[in-house]
Amino acid sequence: MPTHSAPCGLDFGTSNSTLAVPTGDGPALVPLEGEHVTLPSAMFFGFDAEHAFLVGRAGVTAYIDGVQGRLLRSLKSILGSSLIDEKTPVFRKRMAFSEIIGRYLAEVKRRAEVRLGHPIDQVVMGRPVHFVNDDPVGDRHAEDSLRKIAHGIGFREVSFQYEPVAAALDYERQITRETLVLVADIGGGTSDFTIVRLSPQQHGQRERASDLLANGGIRLGGTDFDTSLSMAAFMPLLGHGTPQKRQELEVPARPYWDLSTWSAVHLLYEPKRILELRSIRQAALYPEHIDRLLRIIDHRRAHSLLIAVEAAKIALSDAERATAALDWIEPGLAVDCTEEGFRQATRRLHERLRTTVLSCAQAAGIRIDQLDAIYFTGGTSQIPDVRATIASCFPESAIVDGDRFGSVGLGLAVEAQRRYG
Ligand SMILES: Nc1ncnc2c1ncn2[C@@H]1O[C@H](COP(=O)(O)OP(=O)(O)OP(=O)(O)O)[C@@H](O)[C@H]1O
Ligand SMILES: [Mg+2]
Repeated sequence: MPTHSAPCGLDFGTSNSTLAVPTGDGPALVPLEGEHVTLPSAMFFGFDAEHAFLVGRAGVTAYIDGVQGRLLRSLKSILGSSLIDEKTPVFRKRMAFSEIIGRYLAEVKRRAEVRLGHPIDQVVMGRPVHFVNDDPVGDRHAEDSLRKIAHGIGFREVSFQYEPVAAALDYERQITRETLVLVADIGGGTSDFTIVRLSPQQHGQRERASDLLANGGIRLGGTDFDTSLSMAAFMPLLGHGTPQKRQELEVPARPYWDLSTWSAVHLLYEPKRILELRSIRQAALYPEHIDRLLRIIDHRRAHSLLIAVEAAKIALSDAERATAALDWIEPGLAVDCTEEGFRQATRRLHERLRTTVLSCAQAAGIRIDQLDAIYFTGGTSQIPDVRATIASCFPESAIVDGDRFGSVGLGLAVEAQRRYG
């Protein structure tokens, strides 16, 4: 057992993870893949020894390059659901999802320790305000699962902090006067909010409960924007919404939802689902559309489609139009996406974000004009309409952008220093 304490903050994200440690100069993110301080939360189990287990960009690249194997992403979304203890086939064996998350986080820990040159054994892990919506039991179950996983990979002390509170602690390092702020962490899987009074004097203090006015959150993030864009713009090309031959019905929508959902896409490879797709093709008025869908599944390219959807979504943050070339499905096939179409497709998501923000403000008991600033972090905070939706709730507040992918991890290291340092 180490004689000195070795704390860290660990942000296991739906899309990206980071690990940060306290240093004499404040918290610092540890490079986890080359010089990148973020590690995509992606795991690839290859069918050959060379690619047996790859994480991060290397895992996604192996999959895109066509290496035979299985890609898993967005596994954080499984925490809090009954799936977490279920086993799933990875090459020649079956592994529980909790075991797969453990393999990934053990790799994060190992890489950080190699880089730092010493073991780390105490961790403050980030957690969303709600892993699941309207389900306190599921929330507790999710945190318990994550705690068990963290102990299982060798952390001696494990505690949690809300992700937006961590981001607030990071922001607090840069302010010069007392500020009432809404932290909006819009990530891949969840959107998390905290309304907090920050001040340079209080930074690093242990007892901050009276400064924390309210937390709120919703299981809705960038992956849901991917799903909406996919269903609206991509799936119709694969037959979604087209009629069947005999009945006044459309082809079933479920396969299209699964193909558009990061945490469900692997289900389409199950033999009974493939049989179901073949019978959908039989009944379809335009089977050539369903053939495209079948080709994606037969070639195990379902994640490639979601990667194309996500890339189009990201492009729309900076441009009015984006084109996704899908020649790999069929020569000449492409999807044109527009900012306006994306806006229409995601209208419901914006409404839910707005409701969550407003109820957080209400719980904090503040007047709208009392809020000094909105602090944005998380990759999805780059969608212009998402920013506008949240900003419109507080028209007079200043807008501040944090380190989009590092703020939570850095704040968790501040918290780790406070608790264990
Ligand atoms: N420029 C961009 N425009 C829009 N979305 C973006 C952009 N860059 C990244 N994203 C999206 O941001 C999300 C990832 O953000 P982030 O890394 O903050 O999430 P996370 O921390 O892994 O998730 P969570 O905190 O919800 O568990 C992805 O859905 C990604 O597609
Ligand atoms: Mg996050």
